[in-house]
Amino acid sequence: MTYQNILLEKEGRIAILIINRPKALNALNQDTLLEIKAAAMEVEADPEVDVLIITGAGDKSFVAGADIAYMQNLTAVEGRIFGAVGQAAFRFIEAMEKPSIAAVNGFALGGGCELAMCCDFRIASVNARFGQPEVGLGITPGFGGTQRLPRIVGPGMAKQLLYTAEVIDASEALRIGLVNKIVASEDLMDTVKKIARKIASNGQIAVRYSKVAANEGAQTDIDRAMTIEADLFGLCFSTNDQKEGMTAFLEKRKPTFTGK
Ligand code: CAA
Repeated sequence: MTYQNILLEKEGRIAILIINRPKALNALNQDTLLEIKAAAMEVEADPEVDVLIITGAGDKSFVAGADIAYMQNLTAVEGRIFGAVGQAAFRFIEAMEKPSIAAVNGFALGGGCELAMCCDFRIASVNARFGQPEVGLGITPGFGGTQRLPRIVGPGMAKQLLYTAEVIDASEALRIGLVNKIVASEDLMDTVKKIARKIASNGQIAVRYSKVAANEGAQTDIDRAMTIEADLFGLCFSTNDQKEGMTAFLEKRKPTFTGK
């Protein structure tokens, strides 16, 4: 597919989705959200890709939020649809079986923070800035921020950020568990690609089932969650990767996984 507002690149078994509206600090209008969802679906369906990285074009901004100029004159009905489009795109990324990593290279505000949060985890450059500034614009977050932020950093810290519209730097984001690691700006993509390659070197069915178990389990009670884990654990024993992984270990060699 061809895209106007994003770039979708492939490097080995890694796909890199770059939000590419640098003049608006990569802000998200409806077309961009639709393209993000289409690109994520393309990645999920591509047998040659194992891991998705999401980042923003340029070195100033990951995504500075939903596009305020686009939203300014929306009606309530249009606003609801815009929110639903953003939610659907981000929920697809969160629920897709292939893992995703946000490489946060600057402002991740509002919809940008929400995009980073729908990824499995976040690595930040030193200049990354996070926040949900929506209440300062007279709106609530609309692409999942009120739900994912409390789940990631806990309700007290999330509510402080949601109610104050405060923007935090990368060290504070690390301290509260919003990001896993901070690196120099020039090292961001290499660091994230290295992590992606490490993920891609493992048995991919097992990686994807780990994601499904973690996501599904987080939404249910512990007994049902353990059943989900047990079912997926059991299913792994029907794969060639399980045979290869365990045989390779016992033969003291590196496994060659095929994702089958
Ligand atoms: N929407 C539309 N345009 C945006 C934008 C946004 N979210 N963020 C930045 N831009 C545009 C600016 O309007 C400006 O355009 P012009 O050059 O045409 O004037 C350009 O990007 C550069 O921005 P600034 O001049 O403001 O750059 P700065 O370095 O002085 O400030 C910033 C950077 C702190 C990120 C500031 O741009 C800012 O506060 N942006 C808005 C952040 C925000 O409130 N995001 C939340 C949006 S609401 C939301 O996301 C709702 C939701 O949950 C669905």
